[in-house]
Amino acid sequence: MAPLSATRTSGSSIMQALLNTAVKAARKGGDTALRYLSRVADLDVRSKARNEFVTQVDHAAEAAIIASIRERYPHHGFLAEESGAHPGDEFVWIVDPLDGTTNFLHGFPVFSVSVALRIRDQLELGVVYDPCRQELFTAIRGAGAQLDGRRIRVGSRPGLDGALIGTGFPYRSNDEWLDRYLAMLRAVMEQTAGVRRPGSAALDLCYVAAGRLDGFWEFGLQAWDIAAGTLMIREAGGLVASLTPGPDVLETGNVVAGSPKVYEALRALLAPHL
Ligand code: IPD
Ligand code: CA
Ligand code: CA
Repeated sequence: MAPLSATRTSGSSIMQALLNTAVKAARKGGDTALRYLSRVADLDVRSKARNEFVTQVDHAAEAAIIASIRERYPHHGFLAEESGAHPGDEFVWIVDPLDGTTNFLHGFPVFSVSVALRIRDQLELGVVYDPCRQELFTAIRGAGAQLDGRRIRVGSRPGLDGALIGTGFPYRSNDEWLDRYLAMLRAVMEQTAGVRRPGSAALDLCYVAAGRLDGFWEFGLQAWDIAAGTLMIREAGGLVASLTPGPDVLETGNVVAGSPKVYEALRALLAPHL
């Protein structure tokens, strides 16, 4: 049997190879989106549900990401926003090819590509790429989170006073939350330095990981919106959980996150309105 140190080294080089593949794929997805950005007016936009748009860009980016990963790992499975579940072995890539489609369609330059890898039930790595800023967020479980190769940590604020909080509005099938959400928004506005709604949940979570936001909450997200960002925050020393009862935040999609003290305070502030 290989000595433990050798096993660790080979384990980490496998993870590094998987991460390199994820990065290459995410960049391909982001480049696809950028190629279309100057001609969004010509896109064929379809509505999946109220306020839920999809274009050929989402599909083309997703196809490019999946093809790129498959080239290296032909037996892996996928859970991808536009094409659904593709069965494979116990390695499952969770892909949002364009997180922030509404922004993209308006030429509002806040959108991202999110790619995460789950092995059995464990999230092992995450990549979020912002093609407009060419910023690359990466995380490997147990090895920390990085922005463009430099280690990132969540902020160190002791509570909500002075905090900048990110959020997403309930604006489509999750609008059953609207009244409760508005009460929460008021409470957060009254207690913090400000609230931001950039429009790409994957990127919002990375901003928490990088200390650009102190906390975040949103209802009704999907696993592909949050898988990579969740790992990013945990690896940057922050906390992420479900706001509502459930086995896992990736399943409920009702997210609260933050640096440890802001997370606790935000959770306590939102709880009475649930
Ligand atoms: C959306 C974005 C947005 C969030 C929505 C998501 P999409 O993803 O993450 O910030 O508020 O709930 O669905 O549809 O652009 O991939
Ligand atoms: Ca999304
Ligand atoms: Ca999407």
